Amino acid sequence: MDKAKAEERVKQLTKELREHNYRYYNEDSPTISDYEFDMLLKELESLEKEFPELADENSPTKRVGGEVTKNFETVKHKYPMLSLSNSYSKEELLEFDQRVQKILGREIEYICELKYDGVAIGISYKDGKIQRALTRGDGTQGDDITANVKTIRSVPLVLKGDYPNEFEIRGEIFYPLSVFRELNEKREAEGVEQLANPRNAASGTLKMQDSSIVAERKLDCFLYFVLGEELPFNEHLKNIEAAGTWGFKVPKEEKQLIRKCNSLEEVFSFINYWDEQRSSLDFEIDGVVIKVNNYNYQEELGFTAKSPRWAIAYKFKAEQVETRLDHISYQVGRTGAITPVANLEPVLLAGTTVKRASLHNADQIAKLDIREGDLVQVEKGGEIIPKVVGVNFSHRTSKSKPTEYISQCPECGTELIRIEGEAQHYCPNMWGCPPQIIGKMAHFISRKAMDIDGLGEETVAQLFEANLINDIADIYSLEKEDLLPLDRMAEKSVNNLLEGVEASKQIPFPRVLYAIGIRYVGETVAKKLAKHFKSMSAIRSASLEELIAVDEIGEKIAESIIAFFAEERNVELVDRLTAAGLQMELNEEESGPSSQKLEGNSFVISGVFERHSRDELKMLIEANGGKNTGSLSSKTNYLLAGDNMGPAKKEKAEKLGIQIISESDFEQMIG
Ligand code: IVH
Repeated sequence: MDKAKAEERVKQLTKELREHNYRYYNEDSPTISDYEFDMLLKELESLEKEFPELADENSPTKRVGGEVTKNFETVKHKYPMLSLSNSYSKEELLEFDQRVQKILGREIEYICELKYDGVAIGISYKDGKIQRALTRGDGTQGDDITANVKTIRSVPLVLKGDYPNEFEIRGEIFYPLSVFRELNEKREAEGVEQLANPRNAASGTLKMQDSSIVAERKLDCFLYFVLGEELPFNEHLKNIEAAGTWGFKVPKEEKQLIRKCNSLEEVFSFINYWDEQRSSLDFEIDGVVIKVNNYNYQEELGFTAKSPRWAIAYKFKAEQVETRLDHISYQVGRTGAITPVANLEPVLLAGTTVKRASLHNADQIAKLDIREGDLVQVEKGGEIIPKVVGVNFSHRTSKSKPTEYISQCPECGTELIRIEGEAQHYCPNMWGCPPQIIGKMAHFISRKAMDIDGLGEETVAQLFEANLINDIADIYSLEKEDLLPLDRMAEKSVNNLLEGVEASKQIPFPRVLYAIGIRYVGETVAKKLAKHFKSMSAIRSASLEELIAVDEIGEKIAESIIAFFAEERNVELVDRLTAAGLQMELNEEESGPSSQKLEGNSFVISGVFERHSRDELKMLIEANGGKNTGSLSSKTNYLLAGDNMGPAKKEKAEKLGIQIISESDFEQMIG
């Protein structure tokens, strides 16, 4: 074929494939078979191979991914990505409606939609072509995951129809439940741990570096919010419908996925319908979103610091099912804490098969009188692990016996202890109980701690079992020769692991302090302690009083630190880590406030800012000797106000005579 002919055919095929793609993934009504589709795609592929100059960057052949992103770039959102305020009862919706009517002085039209339980995404388009896809991140800036999003078939790469030149569209990426189940079945067959729920799975997939793997995963995306300066309509629903004609997958009125409501009664009826019907959907929803339809009214209503005043989410109550409790098993965590687990007869709950549920602790079991063999109620809230919330006593047989909580560690046999005032039992054998040893090491290498590349929890367990590491300091004496003979340890992974270990020696002191795993010393506490004491040796020799004197360090934390260093083996461990070359002191830039310019001044931060995230502002306030507090009071000196700050806050600040400053005023203050 000559080039001119090829060009013609490429154009034709591209157009046809796009349309078939749209019909299949967005309309659910394909007009050709999968085989025919594949044939067309193959033809296009081979033409693009023969004439690479004809291959468009947004060609339908590009859906298979291939781009690898090492680190996702953080990009500022053009429009901040806010969240929605939640409501849990019809009364709260009534209040919402009254608020809206009071501000607008009239009844208005609402649009009801489903609240998709997935991963929020903002996709921008220019001249009909996809530009960039960002995750929500902190709302101000998100991760650029364009390469991965481009593999989702229901997201158009090139638009059709009469679209605006530039706009952003937001929606939710999710795993259809059928796909999610398939994925888990495959993992089960491979002996890999199951994915906890579709949302986390989707979020994990979207953060994969290799887009060709994402392309195989069959993610889907519903769009629910169009933003831009030149949108065709002044109403939400009309723009959503328009977006459908541009090629997006949007909720359809005829499928009851979106509805215009002229009264609260109609809103309630939409809610009731979906509360009952939601299990018929092939995706998870956790409620309904109610939006004011008209943009002028939306504008008039405005925003609070976190969410629009023109929309509200109504959250469904957690779904419950009954199933048989087969037996109770006990897990040992890294701190030795024992968690009782209910092993259930598998049951479908909110779209996933549940086999295990949390029982929390001995008190909970006693309080609910949960026994093996019982028919129990299992509930799934927002959390990953479902929980047992009650027992159906009418099905209990006379043979049933009250649960006797274990008194010895199921892993190492040590007598369990119970710390006064705590609900959980502990295995005190912290140096000899395998899950505790492995758990501590897994915590040490985790991302927020030492972040050791090439070393995951499974490898840690493998190294422990091979007797190569017994504590966190052993990680620094690993040698290539020890590792190479192990399973799954090729030269490349060994080098990678050892490089990761070496690189971790540069991890700053606060993270080292967090990594060594002193009970109650989380990330924030570690930062506070590091900032105050500046070195491990100073913390080690601090008295209880000195520790408590640090802002926000209470008795419980202080006692735990003292107890940690009272243990000879911990001292020795820290010494070995020091000798290995880990950072045991704050370096210059990290230490102390960089100035005292804000000393004695207290700040409240509100709204969204152009140049800094709220966390950065908080840090800057503290680094300059100021104090950051959550809410306005007579003690507040400044209200640092960004965009979208609610009028109520402004009013309150004015009433209290608090000075309202902008981001640039603040920058001037700290110079
Ligand atoms: S509209 C300004 N519509 O829920 C708010 N959000 O808790 C724009 N979500 O951030 C959001 N379904 O990730 C909107 N139909 C829907 C939604 C929806 C799910 C998510 C979204 C949002 C979060 C708020």
